[in-house]
Amino acid sequence: MLRDYQSLSEQAAALVGDRIRRNPATVLGLATGSTPLGLYRELVKMVRRGVIDFGEVVTFNLDEYYPIAKENPQSYYYYMQRHFWEPAAIPPERAHIPDGNPDDVRASCRDYELKIYRAGGIDLQILGIGVNGHIGFNEPGEELMAKTHLVSLSGETIAANSRFFEKAADVPRMAITMGLGTIMKAREILLLAAGPDKGTAIRETVKGGLSTRVPASLLQAHPRVTVMVDREAARYLR
Ligand code: GLP
Repeated sequence: MLRDYQSLSEQAAALVGDRIRRNPATVLGLATGSTPLGLYRELVKMVRRGVIDFGEVVTFNLDEYYPIAKENPQSYYYYMQRHFWEPAAIPPERAHIPDGNPDDVRASCRDYELKIYRAGGIDLQILGIGVNGHIGFNEPGEELMAKTHLVSLSGETIAANSRFFEKAADVPRMAITMGLGTIMKAREILLLAAGPDKGTAIRETVKGGLSTRVPASLLQAHPRVTVMVDREAARYLR
């Protein structure tokens, strides 16, 4: 548990920085949302100070809205470009994200899985968590999908994400996301959560049983997960 959002971001950056110094060709899985913004800011500072270099790193983002164009400022592509890929000087050919506007969704999802496989799999996957316990855009339900797929977003997620849009009606209803299998195959996982809204999801993720109703709870079955939370997100852990 970390004191506040700033120390959470610094600790997360220290962990990622350490892995990249050990292996400059690390394959990183990246997340969007407000939680990893501090981490990205700290990593960019480290790049500018010459402490780390992302020149050889390969990245794969968890998810993207559907349908959405890359140029749309609400797309995750745009977010990544602005907050991380560009300022961290990640070569564009090494930065991957699901295509939010493919001609053939199934083929595009298959291709994304293949690219991850060909890159040697993900070494370190960074995750945020939804208020309902989702990771990527794997929503709670009867069953979870293993691979990259198209998903309908839950009402809760649409409501939570509407803060990034002018009108709730503008929030995309669908997304393309890595599956639980894609995420669980990562050799190491770093889950970040901050703020009181994440308290329940974190308690269920860490203390509850494994359930498709709380997709993040499946991480308990992963051999190498670090969960970094601030005080507020840890409020129900005692
Ligand atoms: C979205 C993303 C998730 C993210 C979650 C939480 O639904 N698809 O990857 O973890 O939001 O976002 P935030 O960090 O803004 O709370």
